[in-house]
Amino acid sequence: MLAAVADGQALMQELQAPAETSGPGFRYLLLRSGTTVRAYVNRCAHFGVPLAARQDLLLFVPHTSLTCNVHYARYHWSDGACASGECEGVGLLPIPVIVDALGQICVAPSP
Ligand code: FES
Repeated sequence: MLAAVADGQALMQELQAPAETSGPGFRYLLLRSGTTVRAYVNRCAHFGVPLAARQDLLLFVPHTSLTCNVHYARYHWSDGACASGECEGVGLLPIPVIVDALGQICVAPSP
């Protein structure tokens, strides 16, 4: 629900892998600006690692930018493009997301 994400918050989320697999889940970031919600794969464009290992380590400036914990590449909040650092010319991978009429956040909705 939209109300579960504070305005200006960047939340680390994970979809659990199927029980029969031992791999990690799918990690992504959910960002809210007003009634707009964005989602990006939690994978730095530099070395392919998560931007942070835990929520309390996630570096972000609300509505402005996200920064990788490893070498501090900085990405634009609005589109995931590289703003500075070891990500020049690339960026975070966006995931389609919608907020429906009931305020539910739907990540990667079916067309
Ligand atoms: S791994 Fe993220 S900036 Fe290097």
